Amino acid sequence: MKLGLDDVIAAQTILSHVDGEAGRLIVRGHDLEELAGRMSFERAVAILWEGLVTEGAEDLAGRIGAARARAFGHLAPLAPRLAGLTPVEGMRLLLAALPDADEDPAFLAIGGAGVAAAMAVRGAGGNGPIEPDPSAAHAADLLRMLRGTPADAGEAAGLDTYLVTIMDHGLNASTFTARVVASTEAGILSSVVAGLCALKGPLHGGAPGPVLDMLDAIGTVENAEGWLDDAIGRGERLMGFGHRIYRVRDPRADVLKAAAGRLKGRDNRIAFAEAVEAAALAVLERRKPGRRLDTNVEFYTALLLEALGIPRAGFTPLFGAGRTAGWVAHAVEQVKTGRIIRPRSDYVGPWPAQAA
Ligand code: ACO
Repeated sequence: MKLGLDDVIAAQTILSHVDGEAGRLIVRGHDLEELAGRMSFERAVAILWEGLVTEGAEDLAGRIGAARARAFGHLAPLAPRLAGLTPVEGMRLLLAALPDADEDPAFLAIGGAGVAAAMAVRGAGGNGPIEPDPSAAHAADLLRMLRGTPADAGEAAGLDTYLVTIMDHGLNASTFTARVVASTEAGILSSVVAGLCALKGPLHGGAPGPVLDMLDAIGTVENAEGWLDDAIGRGERLMGFGHRIYRVRDPRADVLKAAAGRLKGRDNRIAFAEAVEAAALAVLERRKPGRRLDTNVEFYTALLLEALGIPRAGFTPLFGAGRTAGWVAHAVEQVKTGRIIRPRSDYVGPWPAQAA
């Protein structure tokens, strides 16, 4: 038995492949670097979904925009319910309210995830929702709905890079969860809600906010090594480092670091983050020798989303908004197998006493 299902192959997929030894992510036959930073989220979703969720050259941007408007119709009345919830809890509530019986559930999921992320972030801050503009590009509209101010082209490109970078990543915990739910034929929207629930944890998608908390606590470059060493000494994990599959640097880290670097002039502490990263890698090498711990996607996600003016509690909802593209595709792919996912457990509890 493998406690974390390490190395267990539980699905065949045409969607993405993670090579943890080479530090390579392939999405539908393309290296990540051919996609991220080079195209809009809609274009990348078209590539990811082609032949599975959609059939070729369709107006994805238009359908996602129309779905944002449809989702807002369902979700706006729930805005008062968001008070007192964290953004990711709010997003969970909102996604769960989207109906299965939609004309286009895959699109309702992806458009709705953007609307829900923005609404949930605003709601947690006591702010009312902002209506989507179905004619706008998804990343630009998401930023406007979330912050209340229009995004400039550089900011929209930064968010596009982020959403494309994180849209799919093999059989990670949330994608596996989405596939399990899809395998019961519960539907795309239920699969997406389940995916978000798995993403919420700090060991998966909940880390980028804590990365910034860590940078704040470290404060200065001079403090970095001592602070990080103490944290390991207390048995803590350094947020933004380590990965179940990558034994070298996560390729997404550099794509996001470059995108954050392009947003110069905004609240950007890349140089400080680089110094902390170098210190962390040195401390991990010394304190955890042989574990091959390196920088993961969350470290520079934190820097990029901070530079885009997203509050840190909103980072996981934005991750969910992008990863919904992958959850939807995996749900559809899983259903096509026609087989429910149902592993077995190894019973180690007591057996009933034999009748005399
Ligand atoms: N900081 C310090 N030590 C670590 C870290 C870390 N970030 N990650 C792993 N280790 C240590 C473990 O304590 C363990 O040490 P031990 O052998 O002395 O007991 C050893 O490295 C092996 O760790 P595992 O638990 O086997 O690693 P696993 O593959 O289960 O965990 C995980 C991967 C959860 C990502 C882990 O590295 C972690 O907690 N990282 C911090 C949180 C984080 O950045 N999460 C985002 C991940 S990216 C994503 O999901 C989108």
